Amino acid sequence: MKFRLNNGVEIPAIGLGTFRSKDEDAYKAVLHALKNGYRHIDTAMVYGNESDVGRAIKDSNIPREEIFVTTKLWNGDQGYLSTKRALKRSLERLKLEYVDLYLIHWPKDYQKTADSYQALEELYKDGFTRAIGVSNFNFHHLEHLFDTAEIMPQVNQVECHVKVQNIKLQDFCMKHGIHLEAYAPMMSHHIDELLEVEVLQNIAKKHQASVPQIAIKYLIQRDIIAIPKSTTPKRIDENLKALAIQLDDEDMEAIRKLNSGRKSFPDPDNIDF
Ligand SMILES: NC(=O)c1ccc[n+]([C@@H]2O[C@H](COP(=O)([O-])OP(=O)(O)OC[C@H]3O[C@@H](n4cnc5c(N)ncnc54)[C@H](OP(=O)(O)O)[C@@H]3O)[C@@H](O)[C@H]2O)c1
Repeated sequence: MKFRLNNGVEIPAIGLGTFRSKDEDAYKAVLHALKNGYRHIDTAMVYGNESDVGRAIKDSNIPREEIFVTTKLWNGDQGYLSTKRALKRSLERLKLEYVDLYLIHWPKDYQKTADSYQALEELYKDGFTRAIGVSNFNFHHLEHLFDTAEIMPQVNQVECHVKVQNIKLQDFCMKHGIHLEAYAPMMSHHIDELLEVEVLQNIAKKHQASVPQIAIKYLIQRDIIAIPKSTTPKRIDENLKALAIQLDDEDMEAIRKLNSGRKSFPDPDNIDF
């Protein structure tokens, strides 16, 4: 299953996340995922695994154009010229000619972010990335970006799961043609809290599925791209199979009520990195 971005580029609804996937573990996870049906990988310069991801892509022998690859601009590389250099270095590590999506990882001060975004627009026009976007952008970050942006971002990747549903942010993004992408779809290092939610356990039982599968499919049925991370082969397979589940209106409504605001990642307005 794929979603279509505002420039016509298609993105697989589920991608493999790679945050905290290191070295050989990252390589093995990406290779396993690609050999078992994934066609979308999410990495970032700061994860330190771009070369492992690139090696796995190459060793999968899957034609490049069939795989959707995202990487991200790290905060220390923000700025017009440094952004251009940063994507070129990411491409060298990935051993790719282009990525499919390049994101500004976190918003910094408005001017710096605007300069970085201008570089993204030029990298996009020059064919180094097939789509561009942002990550961890709230309403006001987007509104400021709109003042200077020539090209609307295709994606905003934010923390999004059953406890932080971002319903208003998704509406706002949709109004501007920006697709919402969910990171930490299983609450990341707080996954134990997700597994304990009785409402999800009951829905999982009803569909003969697992709680992580229900959490992932809930997002996708809301037209949100999800990038669950795992380095465990069995879980990598399990997460992709979420696509086959069909949640009904009653399930969707019950999960919608779980929105409590319990975040696992910092507020983008209060970061010190
Ligand atoms: N843009 C940003 O600022 C940002 C921030 C955070 C993350 N991300 C991206 O989003 C991706 C996903 O977020 P995340 O990695 O933080 O969290 P996540 O995908 O919500 O959760 C990952 C955790 O869930 C476990 N897990 C995965 N599938 C499971 C299953 N079926 N059953 C039980 N446990 C399961 C994993 O363990 P094992 O690996 O041991 O199986 C890992 O501990 C990242 O990897 C990264 O690519 C982006």
